[in-house]
Amino acid sequence: MSSTSAGTARELADAYLQQAQLPDLPSGHFIDGQIRAPQSGSYMPSWDAGLGRAFADFGSGDADDIDRAVLAASNAQCRWGSMAPSARADILQRVAARILEQQEYLCFVEALDSGKSLAEARGDVQSAARYFNYYAAMARTLEGRSLPLGENHIGWTVREPAGVTAHIIPWNFPTSTFARSVAPALAAGCTVVAKPAETTPFTALLLAQIIFDCGVPPGVVNVVTGLGIEAGAALSSHRLVRHITFTGSVPTGVKVASAAAPNIASLTLELGGKSPLVALSDCDIEATAEGARWAIFANAGQICSAGSRLVVQRSVYQPVLERLLTKVHSLRIGHGLGGADLGAVNSELQLSRIDHHVAGARERGRQILCGGEALEGPGWFYPPTIIDNLPVDDACIQQEIFGPVLSVQVVDNDEEALAAANCTEFGLYAGIYSRDISRALRMAQGIRAGQVTINDYWAGGVSVPFGGNGRSGYGRERGQEGMEAYMSSKAVVVRL
Ligand code: NAI
Ligand code: MG
Repeated sequence: MSSTSAGTARELADAYLQQAQLPDLPSGHFIDGQIRAPQSGSYMPSWDAGLGRAFADFGSGDADDIDRAVLAASNAQCRWGSMAPSARADILQRVAARILEQQEYLCFVEALDSGKSLAEARGDVQSAARYFNYYAAMARTLEGRSLPLGENHIGWTVREPAGVTAHIIPWNFPTSTFARSVAPALAAGCTVVAKPAETTPFTALLLAQIIFDCGVPPGVVNVVTGLGIEAGAALSSHRLVRHITFTGSVPTGVKVASAAAPNIASLTLELGGKSPLVALSDCDIEATAEGARWAIFANAGQICSAGSRLVVQRSVYQPVLERLLTKVHSLRIGHGLGGADLGAVNSELQLSRIDHHVAGARERGRQILCGGEALEGPGWFYPPTIIDNLPVDDACIQQEIFGPVLSVQVVDNDEEALAAANCTEFGLYAGIYSRDISRALRMAQGIRAGQVTINDYWAGGVSVPFGGNGRSGYGRERGQEGMEAYMSSKAVVVRL
């Protein structure tokens, strides 16, 4: 690790902001246990979203780099997959400990590269460690089952690793999304080629180095950085890849699934959502407003499961909105490294996407209660924005904005609330606020989503299965379900 790794995340951030002292970051791919220059010799810049300027270069990977990485993974598969699961578990536990030991540096790099606040980056890095610990424990309990077949046969199942797995990572939680799929893949005995997003390439490289340093053999974990249309497309169509875990947009998910089809590779697709936070008439006003603030303005709204729609019953509409607006006005916006609550939006492109959505709402005559326009630079900042009382067919109800923009739907009763909650083609996540648990549970039963929480929007963690229905994708990550994609069952039957 570089000399810049000494110091707390806060100290590193201050040194960077005051003297623009740049961190020393890996600038190639991580393949077969080594940092390797891209075969084409091409590099591209990563941007500090808070200042709107490039701060470091990384390798622009292409099909040749992907091929090298996938072959390294394929060659390492037998050794890693046949290792005793408890030996794999020991290594993964060391990875978790090492992530926590290096968390100051990882937090700093994560916040710098993504635009988020240091506090949010810390949450991301710590949850990465939790994934490695959780799936280390699951590796220790990997067992098949015996199959009763009568007196002349004996049978059992063996759970084998799926093989080489591809992980296409988004930019909103670069560290924890990497760990969310790489930790169970490794626990199951799979090898890994990861492609981080082009705006946040660095923490994946740092994590690959940590994993290698903790004793994972060369070739088991590889990271190729670069563009989605180049490195990502080559990875998703590689014939040796057996499973692809993709998190990102619906159109790119469709491309990845199409590229995987000729190779009969399996997929986990996590494609975002338009998740409702439902405030019923008997909700606790303060808890609901606090839940709503957190659900849409954390990470500047760039969260697949963000509570981007507030479905609120008319009788509590006014107090919930008033309380929420007070909270919104107290949020400090600024460079993620400078102690802000709300950091920058990840890229100039993402800022323009958000602006486009909100400008459309304005043109349609919708009422914007706060925010509504990108802030002056430098840096890419969008203020917390609330668009009031939208009809069900409005684009800001039906389309994912992926920014700090809350769309409000006012309803009169529980039936309307449920219909509004289910009014999009997505089905990822939902939150319900009510003091009446039976009423909330009836609502939870009717909502189409992979995860529903009651009276606490982000309740849960690494042990709670997460994933979507409909256009939000398929497959589950986290929890015990998170291992399934990386294992294949083999049944063995013997005639006695
Ligand atoms: P994207 O889906 O294009 O990118 C996500 C990942 O896929 C990145 O690593 C990218 O390099 C890769 N990728 C891009 N094109 C690819 C291809 N043809 N083959 C293989 N991999 C490819 O998303 P983008 O452009 O970053 O953001 C667009 C929208 O996607 C956002 O506004 C948001 O609505 C949604 N999104 C959802 C996320 C989630 O957590 N579900 C995360 C990021 C974006
Ligand atoms: Mg960046």
